[in-house]
Amino acid sequence: MLVVLTFLTVDSLNVTRAGGIQVPNYDVINQEIGYANDWSRGFEVPVIGASEPLFGRTYSLPEATELMKLGKAVIQSRACMDCHTFFGNGAYYGPDLTKSWLDPAWSQIWMPMTGAATRGDAMVEFLMHPEQYPTWTRQMPNLHLTRAEAQAVVAYLKWMSAVDTNGFPAHFGRIQTQN
Ligand code: HEC
Repeated sequence: MLVVLTFLTVDSLNVTRAGGIQVPNYDVINQEIGYANDWSRGFEVPVIGASEPLFGRTYSLPEATELMKLGKAVIQSRACMDCHTFFGNGAYYGPDLTKSWLDPAWSQIWMPMTGAATRGDAMVEFLMHPEQYPTWTRQMPNLHLTRAEAQAVVAYLKWMSAVDTNGFPAHFGRIQTQN
């Protein structure tokens, strides 16, 4: 039994840790992330593409790892999960954030609205001033993130979108509001 459990634990870690089979290393934030149907599996999966610097620069693996730590700390300390879902945990008052980086609204709505030149910068502007850029019937409160904190959150959201979550959440676009 112990042998089986040890095998299962090691096997799960090989799939779920950063750098594992379904979870890219944190420096994936330097690359383009696409989302395409995998016909053999029957759902959409992340497709890691060409180089695409974030905030105009390329992060080394240690730098990207530090950024993820800050991003996670911000997300935990501001209780984003009270309103949002990450990897299946959290609430649905706001949109599911597991694939938020891939939301077409960044390029279609928020880039023109904020005047930002890239998706990453539009996300930072929105996160720093959500009350100025509402797009929905429910609004996100201003949580007074610094630029460094907002950038770390965006890096974390970009990495999260590159994780192969077995198609979760299905139809990741914004959920329909009840009111
Ligand atoms: C009180 C509830 C609430 C909290 C807390 C909250 N949000 Fe939001 N958030 C919302 C709502 C509502 C929206 C939709 C706003 C809109 O589209 O105008 C939203 C939208 C977003 C979006 C855009 C999602 C998309 O793809 O459309 C991101 C990213 C986001 N929030 C990140 C965060 C982060 C990071 C935190 C914590 C630092 C956080 N939110 C905390 C309610 C909240």
